[in-house]
Amino acid sequence: MKTGQGEFIQLPKPVLKDGVSVEGALAKRRSVRSFSTKALTEKEISQLLWSGQGKTRPWGGRTAPSAGALYPLELYIVLPDGVYRYRPDSHQLILHLEENVSVPLAHAALGQGCVRDAPAVIVIAAVHERTTNKYGARGERYVAIEVGHAAENILLQAVSLGLGAVPIGAFSDSRVHQVLRLPRDHEPLYLIPVGYEH
Ligand SMILES: Cc1cc2nc3c(=O)[nH]c(=O)nc-3n(C[C@H](O)[C@H](O)[C@H](O)COP(=O)(O)O)c2cc1C
Repeated sequence: MKTGQGEFIQLPKPVLKDGVSVEGALAKRRSVRSFSTKALTEKEISQLLWSGQGKTRPWGGRTAPSAGALYPLELYIVLPDGVYRYRPDSHQLILHLEENVSVPLAHAALGQGCVRDAPAVIVIAAVHERTTNKYGARGERYVAIEVGHAAENILLQAVSLGLGAVPIGAFSDSRVHQVLRLPRDHEPLYLIPVGYEH
């Protein structure tokens, strides 16, 4: 991966028909917390991020539904060589942080080893104001629901790719925010370590 700060990496086109059936993936899905060191390919990374927030409609509609089509979610992927942010419109990655943050990220997640050992951790963050500006306090509920939609898409896509993953909710919000140096209004809500099961 990796390119200069601020430069874009075009991801391979997502595969739109392949893999296991939805019911096959549902039946197989379970939390996997032990990963081999095998790195993910660009194709796998592309597919996982697309499943979470990929653009599927010319007007901007995405793989996961969103209240009022306001799309408050932002996806990041933590790889050994850095942290990247996903751009759904162009299906690109942009280098966000050029360092390996696996160890401090695991510390921020109460020392959970799967966060440190996974070859990739997808971070789902939310910009609440995109939704609460329109829906007020109700928007908080919508954002929480939407994170679940995106996460389940990613978990099922991982199964379909023959990968394992686990959704992680136990972490210090402020420490994850700090380790990933997220923009002020990007609140981390979920971490999803993903890789080949060990
Ligand atoms: C909101 C939420 C938060 C979770 N947080 C963690 C976590 O911090 N660490 C972890 O190992 N598993 C976490 N899990 C995974 C659950 O432990 C797991 O889904 C549950 O034990 C059922 O097992 P299964 O996923 O294999 O069906 C979380 C699951 C959810 C839905």
